Amino acid sequence: MYNIDKVRADFPILSRTVYDKPLVYLDNAATTQKPIVVLDAMRDEYLNVNANVHRGVHWMSQQATELHEAARERVRKFINARTAEEIVFTRGTTESINLIASSFVERFMRAGDEVIISTLEHHSNIVPWQLQAQRNGIVLQVIPIDDDGSLRLDEYERLFSPRTKLVSIAHVSNVLGIINPVTEIIRIAHNHSVPVALDGAQSVPHFKVDIQALNCDFFAFSGHKLYGPTGIGVLYGKEEWLDKLPPYQGGGEMIEHVSFLEQTTFERPPLKFEAGTPDYIATHGLATAIDYLESLGMDSIEAHERHLTEYAVDQLRDISDMRFFGISTLKHTSATTHDAVISFLVGNIHPMDLGTILDTLGIAVRTGHHCAQPLMQRLGISGTVRASFGLYNTESEVDLLVSAIRRAALMF
Ligand code: ALA
Repeated sequence: MYNIDKVRADFPILSRTVYDKPLVYLDNAATTQKPIVVLDAMRDEYLNVNANVHRGVHWMSQQATELHEAARERVRKFINARTAEEIVFTRGTTESINLIASSFVERFMRAGDEVIISTLEHHSNIVPWQLQAQRNGIVLQVIPIDDDGSLRLDEYERLFSPRTKLVSIAHVSNVLGIINPVTEIIRIAHNHSVPVALDGAQSVPHFKVDIQALNCDFFAFSGHKLYGPTGIGVLYGKEEWLDKLPPYQGGGEMIEHVSFLEQTTFERPPLKFEAGTPDYIATHGLATAIDYLESLGMDSIEAHERHLTEYAVDQLRDISDMRFFGISTLKHTSATTHDAVISFLVGNIHPMDLGTILDTLGIAVRTGHHCAQPLMQRLGISGTVRASFGLYNTESEVDLLVSAIRRAALMF
């Protein structure tokens, strides 16, 4: 049984007030709050075991290295990767995608070769490819979407050419909450012998992800959206791909042998991609966050957030002039098509104005283009208001959101 009061007690920040109102935190797609166990684990490591990893023979360095490598194994198990060597620690989803863009293009692409992305990508899965287009002449092919936000799979198939080298797609849209049909996307790409990278920033916090079942070639996500610390993320890559990719950055710990006389040689993955001192405190924090999530159960988290999303949509639908983006299919489809995000506009109220009114009532939502300007252009709007749910949100918080929006609608 999911005990929401007990869960909320694990997140001290949730009991704070904002402008003398109880905080209603509905910006979880931007970042999540941290349970006390994560903060304690990181503090404890700083207080008792802090030492650089992979480098020392001394006791504390060995302890810190063990925690760091245990975190890698924890991540492996969480996403069911085959080996821990397939788990590269990065600063976050953005760095993970930049790593793929930089190393994959260097090794496997020439000017004129193509990468397929989609209209609904976050800028972090657009701009790294645009930089590669400018620097190395690669070409972007973009899957269009329907008005309801779903990817046009028929058009997707048509985008493949002999020059297609990679598909890079969001698992879940950060704006629309739509869970993209990635099984089909991967199947089609693999039929063309093209690998697939998934941006999993908005999927891993909400439901169980099984990398081997998905069979994607790369998968990126962030710790801070997973109730873990900021500044840490993961790039999963199939061993056969990581083995072939060149390093992304150079420095300590990613080398096998450095010389001015002979060619410098590199470590095997994952260390090949982890130049410099890793954020070993954050990896321990991330592992602790994963322990926490699994103690609640990913299926229970998914069911709780699904219920909240449907509960919210049911009430919001009754507000006149309410316009949802990516929600039309929510009610009559299964858990495979929508995630804990609701994007909307009310009449002609500017999203920033609505967001500001909600803020004065203690309700934190995100407004604007959500780092997805091409999607906004496609939808013909400048931005939306986005409420995004986490494992600790409640029905009464949804009630507060709904009544605040009603109030705002009356004011304008
Ligand atoms: N990518 C995060 C969001 O969608 C920051 O809000």
